[in-house]
Amino acid sequence: MEGSGATPQAQAPIAPQLKLRGVNHLALMTDDMKETIDFYGDVLGIRLIHALTVPPGVNRGNPPFERLRHYFFDMGNDESLAFFELPKGAKPQTDRDAVGGMQHVSFTADQAMFETVQDRLKARGIPILGPIKILGGRALSIYFYDHNDIRLELTCHLAHTDDPHVIDDMTMTKSAARPELMALHDDAAWVERTIAHLPD
Ligand SMILES: [Fe+2]
Repeated sequence: MEGSGATPQAQAPIAPQLKLRGVNHLALMTDDMKETIDFYGDVLGIRLIHALTVPPGVNRGNPPFERLRHYFFDMGNDESLAFFELPKGAKPQTDRDAVGGMQHVSFTADQAMFETVQDRLKARGIPILGPIKILGGRALSIYFYDHNDIRLELTCHLAHTDDPHVIDDMTMTKSAARPELMALHDDAAWVERTIAHLPD
């Protein structure tokens, strides 16, 4: 736990909320792009929208290999899921639980898709954890792994399955969030600043 006492940040005004509009693309790693196209297309219905091979000598934050495939898929809501294809055996399997790792990614699904994906996973013999109630029962999640052992979650918000209100369902009140944040950092001014935008 951090020490007490007002920090410089606690005394500063709250930064205005910027108009960030979700994920442009989330880039993951595969060692078999064909299998990735088939898995995400057949199981989740995520379609390929852009396929390129990174030109030699180009560094756009790509892994340090030449002529890597970098493909993009439509994951709905005007957002995309991307993959780089590593040469087989070029890198070890990642530790998703390590600092800085992508532990898992959750996709939002309506009720019909939530059920269809479970049927498709079962038909393929892919183990499913769940459905598990989350967010105080406001949503259900299942967890499973793709062919690269990437941990995936599918979440169905129960009150509005066709038009999920993800942020509304997640947003805590000040009184619910305060004890947790005081346990994180016992500077009351910092805590109040951090939760100032939450409902009472
Ligand atoms: Fe999750």
